[in-house]
Amino acid sequence: MGKVTVITSGKGGTGKSTFTAGVSTALVRRGNRVLIIDCDAGMRGIDLMLGVSGELVFDIADIVRGNCSPANAIYPCKTVPELYVLPAPSDVSDKISPYIMLQLVRVLENYYDHVLIDCPAGIGVGFESAAIAANRALVVVNAEPLSVRGGEKIHRKLRHMKIPEIRLVINRFNERRFKKMGAFPDLDAVIDSVGARLIGVVPEDSASAACAQRGEPIEGRKKAVCAFDRIAARLDGEDVPLEL
Ligand SMILES: Nc1ncnc2c1ncn2[C@@H]1O[C@H](COP(=O)(O)OP(=O)(O)OP(=O)(O)O)[C@@H](O)[C@H]1O
Ligand SMILES: [Mg+2]
Repeated sequence: MGKVTVITSGKGGTGKSTFTAGVSTALVRRGNRVLIIDCDAGMRGIDLMLGVSGELVFDIADIVRGNCSPANAIYPCKTVPELYVLPAPSDVSDKISPYIMLQLVRVLENYYDHVLIDCPAGIGVGFESAAIAANRALVVVNAEPLSVRGGEKIHRKLRHMKIPEIRLVINRFNERRFKKMGAFPDLDAVIDSVGARLIGVVPEDSASAACAQRGEPIEGRKKAVCAFDRIAARLDGEDVPLEL
């Protein structure tokens, strides 16, 4: 259970794609074979973060149209062996229906230890297609009121879809900034507001973010890498204590 994980957020820009790239790389370090499906049609970014954007010929829309087989549209990340990406359509009008996505993911999941689906922000176009095949959802928020409100809404929607497991990620956390803002008394208040169980807190880490932007692997002695490793272990079912 939990092999297909969708990464969601209510508000845009909470760090879903960076998180997806970071945690996937951590899952590979643990010996997993991992596929990322980018479902953010028109705004795809995972190919850039994995350094394969220059090679793209086919994407999900080509599979659906019968222009290529699924294997032709899946690109191996050169710098992280056993990490693969299926790019989103470059054109925002190329919508993949939830039914088709379900069929596709049900086939692909047999070839990987984990499938991570990078979802567009919010519950608009593409959300249902991205989430329909998932047996686990992660809600990524920043510890700020607007982001948390978005997280609460998306959590409600995911529950309505009956996704079996829904967990919270607090991303870009900076304790000093959080205390200075004073919008929440502590992180427990953030967790209670979203209403989902916490799976991990990823610190603000410009070095990891820069790696993702440059298409380099998110690894080494960086602040966020340690958090990605712990979250990856939990995604693999390990009982790793939470550090707040
Ligand atoms: N842990 C982090 N520390 C510092 N910066 C981060 C972190 N995570 C993400 N970022 C930065 O936050 C910004 C948004 O990240 P990203 O594109 O991954 O968000 P997103 O949720 O996928 O956005 P969208 O909703 O547009 O798809 C980027 O500038 C990225 O570098
Ligand atoms: Mg994104």
